[in-house]
Amino acid sequence: MLSRLIYSSEPAQALDDQQVMAILATARRNNERDDITGMLVFDSTAFLQVIEGDREKLSKLYAALVLDTRHHKLTILGMGPIDEREFSSWQMGFAAAHTGHRALFLKHSTSSRFEPHRMTASAALALVKDLAPAAS
Ligand SMILES: Cc1cc2nc3c(=O)[nH]c(=O)nc-3n(C[C@H](O)[C@H](O)[C@H](O)COP(=O)(O)O)c2cc1C
Repeated sequence: MLSRLIYSSEPAQALDDQQVMAILATARRNNERDDITGMLVFDSTAFLQVIEGDREKLSKLYAALVLDTRHHKLTILGMGPIDEREFSSWQMGFAAAHTGHRALFLKHSTSSRFEPHRMTASAALALVKDLAPAAS
C-alpha cells in the first residue's frame, strides 16, 4: 500500500558536507532499488525527511534509520496511506535549510527557525514542498 512517512531527527555529531553526501548516495541507491521516493532537508541542527513508497518497505527503512548512529532523537511526525506521491521524480532530493528561509519557517510553524520536531505532518510536508524547487 502506497504510504508516506515523515520524521525529524538530530545529527548525533556535527556532519560535514561529505558525510551528508554519503548519506544521500546510499539513500538514492537503495531507494531506487526499493521504489522509494522523497526529500531530505538538513540545516546542521536537524533533519526532516519525507519518504514515500510501499508501507512494508518504509517500515523496514525506518527500522534501519532508527539504528543509524549518525542521527538520533527520531520523531515520527506522520505515517499513513496516500493516493499519490509528492516526490515521484526524486529517489531522495536534498535541500539545505538556512536562515534565508526564515519566512518559510514562519509560514509553516510558530518559529522562525528550522524546528521540524515541533511541526505537524501536514505543515512539514508543505515546508518540504516549498523547498523542493531548490532541491538537488
Ligand atoms: C538522515 C538520514 C537519512 C537517510 N535516508 C535514507 C534513505 O532514504 N534510504 C536509505 O536506504 N537509507 C537512508 N539512510 C541510511 C540508512 O540509515 C542506512 O544506513 C542504510 O539504509 C543502510 O543501507 P546499506 O545496508 O545499503 O548500507 C539515511 C540515513 C540518515 C542518517
